[in-house]
Amino acid sequence: MAGFEHAWLLIRKGQKPLLSLYQPVDFWHASLELAQEPWQGEFELRFSESRSAPELNGVSQLAIIGDPSLLADLPGDENPGALCAALDETRVHKTAYEIACLARANKLAMAGHHAARDAFLAGASEFAINLAYQHATQQREVDAPYHSIIGVNDHAGTLHYQYYDTAAPTKSRSLLIDAGVRYRGYCSDITRTIAGVGEGRFAALVQGLEQLQFRLCKMVAPGVDYLDIHRKTHQGIAALLSSAGLVNDLSDEDMVAEGVTRAFFPHGIGHFLGVQVHDVAGKPVPPPADAPFLRLLRTLEPGMVVTIEPGLYFIPSLLEPLLSGPFGRHINRPLLDELQGCGGIRIEDNVVVTDSGSRNLTREAEA
Ligand code: GLY
Ligand code: MN
Ligand code: MN
Repeated sequence: MAGFEHAWLLIRKGQKPLLSLYQPVDFWHASLELAQEPWQGEFELRFSESRSAPELNGVSQLAIIGDPSLLADLPGDENPGALCAALDETRVHKTAYEIACLARANKLAMAGHHAARDAFLAGASEFAINLAYQHATQQREVDAPYHSIIGVNDHAGTLHYQYYDTAAPTKSRSLLIDAGVRYRGYCSDITRTIAGVGEGRFAALVQGLEQLQFRLCKMVAPGVDYLDIHRKTHQGIAALLSSAGLVNDLSDEDMVAEGVTRAFFPHGIGHFLGVQVHDVAGKPVPPPADAPFLRLLRTLEPGMVVTIEPGLYFIPSLLEPLLSGPFGRHINRPLLDELQGCGGIRIEDNVVVTDSGSRNLTREAEA
């Protein structure tokens, strides 16, 4: 429950689940108000002045799930592995209600992304772009599903760039913003990259990556192995590097096989999305050697919600070994030097697997 600490949920067979929310009498702090929302009809709701677990009268068998340091004095099996895994599995296929919440989280976030783009094009600092995002989404920083990533120019090349410059850039060459909204507990996770005025070559790359991203989103359908979407991304990145003239005289196959594409696209194509940004149960098996950071290794099924987030970055620590190695001669250094100041590109949408294909919640929200 957002904002409530020391909450307990007691699930009993044949009865409504009991949700106990800690609400102390406290003249230093305000008590949280619980907004009237339809899910409350499914729970027996109780406010408690105590942080302790609710009474467990008549309970003969108990499993208790939570932070082990807080559970020490309580009876019952603590975080039993099989139960936790089964509970995680129930979160893999989203209900119509959950999908409606995720769609709303996308709609709200898109208003922020548009405001952020406008602020960037007007020459704003990262700090001011963040304020524009917060204002348009009416979301406090503390309520966001994750710390918004807002990188201008070369900062766009740090995958999870975490600072906001307060000074406006002398030249606004590029913006990468990865930011979401939490709605009734459900997260959106959206990235957009904007080229500054006069950045024709970078803008063409952004457009190329967006075309690839559209194709990858279209791959989302029941029966598709998510790993195949990841691998298809590397082929697409190779084609893009070649058509942009960044890598020359090397086949797309060799670029992928020799790890050249990994230097430009080092992360996975995405993950499950839900009440956690990186939602649970995505990795029943360890990732293969060619995709060490991939967070989702399952065959897609209706009701799953995933992100599709290809990227193409100019990251010095990854490019230096490439440039000094046997494939360095294939890299167009003057073009790389020009683009390095733009940092990188990521484009990320939230996509639902439907019975017959997919539904892109982010593009719907953008329209
Ligand atoms: N915002 C973090 C991610 O895209 O996974
Ligand atoms: Mn993501
Ligand atoms: Mn993201």
